[in-house]
Parts: sequence; C-alpha cells; structure tokens
Amino acid sequence: MNAVIARMSQFVSARVQSVFTVVGARLPQFVGARVRFFAVATLVIQILIVATGGAVRLTGSGLGCPTWPLCTDASLIATPEMGLHGAIEFGNRLLSIVVGLVAVLMVLMLLRIRRERRDLMTLALVILGGTVLQGLIGGLSVRVQLDPSVVGVHFAISAILVAVSAALVYRVWCGQRGAERLVSRPITILTHVTSLLVAVTVIAGILTTGAGPHAGDDGSARNGLDASILQHVHSWPGYALLAATLALVIMLARARHRRIMDFAVILLVLEVVQALIGVIQSRTGLPILLVGSHMVIACMIAAAMTALVLSLRSSAPTNERAVTQEVLTVAN
Ligand code: HEM
Repeated sequence: MNAVIARMSQFVSARVQSVFTVVGARLPQFVGARVRFFAVATLVIQILIVATGGAVRLTGSGLGCPTWPLCTDASLIATPEMGLHGAIEFGNRLLSIVVGLVAVLMVLMLLRIRRERRDLMTLALVILGGTVLQGLIGGLSVRVQLDPSVVGVHFAISAILVAVSAALVYRVWCGQRGAERLVSRPITILTHVTSLLVAVTVIAGILTTGAGPHAGDDGSARNGLDASILQHVHSWPGYALLAATLALVIMLARARHRRIMDFAVILLVLEVVQALIGVIQSRTGLPILLVGSHMVIACMIAAAMTALVLSLRSSAPTNERAVTQEVLTVAN
C-alpha cells in the first residue's frame, strides 16, 4: 500500500514539475509586449474597481450581499430575489477576483526577469499584497455595516494601489531609476509639495464623504463631522493644489523640460476638471454620477502625480534581452 502511495506521489510531483517547466519556459525573458500589456492592465483594472466600488456605494448597494465571504448565510452568489442591489454588490465581488488574477499574472510575467528587474517585481508584489488586503477590508466593511472609517480606508488603499500601479507602468516603459536629477531644486521641492497637497486633499475628501449622504448607505453610521463645513475645508487644499500645479507647469515650461511638463499638464487638466466637478456636485445635492466621477478622477490624479514625481529623475533602461542572451551564451 505504502509503495503504491509513494509511486503515485512521485508520478504527481513529476507531472506538476513538467507543467511548471513548460509554463516557466513560456514566461517573458525581457520587458516586452506581454509585460507592458499586464502593467497597463494592472493600472486600468485598479482604477476600474474604484469605479465599480463607487457604484456599489453610490447606489446604496453596499449591503446588497448582507454578509461576507458568502453573499448570504445560505448562498455564495446573489440570487434573483436579492434584486439590483445584490447584483451590483456581487458584480463588484466578481470583478475583485479579476483584479486579483491580473495581479497574480503580473507577478508571473516578471518571474524570469526578477533578478534584472527587482524594482518591477517589488512593485508587482506590493500590488498583489495590497489587492489581497483590499479583499479583506472590503469584506470587513460589510461585516461592520459600512462603517465610514473602514469604507474610507478601503478607498484610500485603492488610491495608493493606483499610484503604485502607475509607478509600475512608468518603470516598465522608462526603465529603472537613474542617478541624475533632471530638474532644479526649486522644481523638485514644488513637485513634492504638490504631491503632499494631493494626499491632504484626498484625505479631506474622504472625511467629507464620511460625513455626507454617500458615506455607506442610508442606514449606515456617519463620522459625526459637519459635511457642509468639511466641503469647504476639503476644497482649500484642492485650490492650493491647482495653484501649485500651475506654477509647476510654468516653471517646467521656462526650463524647457518638455517631457516632464507633459505630465504636469496632464495633472493640471485632471485637477481643473476635478475642481469643476467638486463645485458643481456640492451645489447640486451630490448627484451620484458626479460623485462617482470625482472618486475616479481623484485616482487618476494620484496616478499622474506619481508619474510626474518619477519623471524628475533620469531612468536607466536595462536591456533584459541582452542580459538574458549573455546568460545563455555563458551557460552554453
Ligand atoms: C482638485 C482636487 C480635488 C481632489 C483631488 C478631490 C478629491 C476628493 C476625494 C478623494 C473625495 C472622496 C471620495 C470618496 O471617498 O468617495 C472627495 C469628496 C468630495 N469633494 Fe473633492 N477633490 C478635489 C476638489 C474639490 C473641490 C474644489 C470641491 C468643491 C467644493 C470638492 C468637493 C467635494 C465634495 C462635496 C465631496 C464629498 C462628496 C460626497 O459627500 O460623497 N472637491 N474629493
């Protein structure tokens, strides 16, 4: 009997090993089209899940599946009797599985170049870990009946994951961090002040939402702060952010830093649209389409800000194809 079990386990492990060998041999050996595709897919899907998560909250579907990890005590999936709220909440849970899958595939794509591009592997692992954490926090938010502090942390971590995904796309396209600072000290300082303003504005925005009508759903608690005062407090760093970014664009234009200026201009355009939406939504009773767009654009601002900060330094593109070729030649 023992001999049969030993033979079977030998057979299974040989099979598993050969599957790994075949799959492993097909993984990228340099940063090419597949790595680029998955990096962009990571960024896109991390923003998309913010949009669908926003749809869950803004349509009051947060408890569409009243429990977690199952949808109800008796069912893993939403049933037709649970109506639209159940379908929206369950749809978001399904998308979160796709987000996790993309994060795993990104790590796999980098497996064979992990030594040459440790920077990319680190970013991909942070995204994978953060995505798992977000799954747990999303579940917790249901368990605590959409407590606004948990819902707020859930959004904040998503904004961070979007920023890390933007860094991944940037590094995939532009190569590793170089040693040379490309801009003057005042521009560097102003850029870092601008990124601090992004963080302050987003945190104040999250607190505003936690006090207002879209904190969770109609029945969930609020953070107890005054939403009408917070709206204004939140808009101040928002306007300071606009001013700082405008100053950056002017300084970069004068210094003729075309490529870096492009990132600053993208950031400025997003901020202008964001501020307009912010003002209109606060004067029109916070309609859900505008509030949802305000959430998504906040994440796009985090991505553009990340690219701008990274572009201040030179990049040192590594030619993984050449490195791999060299390793193969030595091995032969
Ligand atoms: C330009 C930079 C801005 C950024 C990055 C930003 C970002 C944010 C973020 C992240 C939230 C929280 C979203 C959520 O948790 O669902 C928020 C909420 C909000 N923002 Fe802004 N915002 C900006 C400008 C403004 C301006 C100028 C106003 C005008 C008053 C404004 C009005 C609001 C309001 C009223 C809310 C609360 C919405 C709710 O209760 O659901 N925002 N903002």
